[in-house]
Amino acid sequence: MNRLEEKYNRAERTPSDIDMFIPTLRQYSEACEHVTEFGVRWIVSTWGLLSGLPKRMVSYDINHPEVHGANINEVYEIAEENGVKYDFHLASTLEVEIEPTELLFIDTDHTNEHLIKELNLHHSRVRYWIMCHDTIAFNLMPAVNEFIETHKEEWKIKEHMEIHPGLVILERINKLKNKMENFIENIIENKITMVARDKFDTVVRNFSKNE
Ligand SMILES: C[S@@+](CC[C@H](N)C(=O)[O-])C[C@H]1O[C@@H](n2cnc3c(N)ncnc32)[C@H](O)[C@@H]1O
Repeated sequence: MNRLEEKYNRAERTPSDIDMFIPTLRQYSEACEHVTEFGVRWIVSTWGLLSGLPKRMVSYDINHPEVHGANINEVYEIAEENGVKYDFHLASTLEVEIEPTELLFIDTDHTNEHLIKELNLHHSRVRYWIMCHDTIAFNLMPAVNEFIETHKEEWKIKEHMEIHPGLVILERINKLKNKMENFIENIIENKITMVARDKFDTVVRNFSKNE
């Protein structure tokens, strides 16, 4: 087993405030080429996201993981071993401009004021999904709902995983994708209607013959 798989397994199996969501982090990251993480602490969610093997991953924390005894150099090494270009930035998420990304994972200062600022500041650089952790534990749904209310043309709540401590997944609304889905649904419905009409006509014809 390679080192990344070991880290992933440990992150998923060791009880913590994020263990239950580690598979979800990997699943979404697998669909992305670029992933951004807000809030590293002692390096747990990092392994979930990294194991999705995006081409590029960038993490931010206002405190260095070494203050928790965690080794960020190990993330650089394991990322390189697995072909992921990784960077950690010691910075406040309220003072940075992130690279265009596909998935943004937010797990920093758990207040509604802070979360709404992060969402407003960074959402336009996120292509597909924003994940907000600890929504139940810290009652962060007011910020999420306020953001969705003011951006309902652009973002929707895809899923709220309500098991404690809670994880919300926001999805960018893709108008073209929606149109295509509606179009396909219409075709399918029309086909079904045509088949149903055909069958109905046959039944009526047979019934008339027998009369
Ligand atoms: C709950 S911990 C993150 C846990 C981490 N995701 C994990 O899986 O273990 C919150 C982290 O957010 C960081 N933080 C708080 N405010 C921040 C800010 N404005 N900018 C960047 N990081 C911040 C803290 O230093 C802390 O490490």
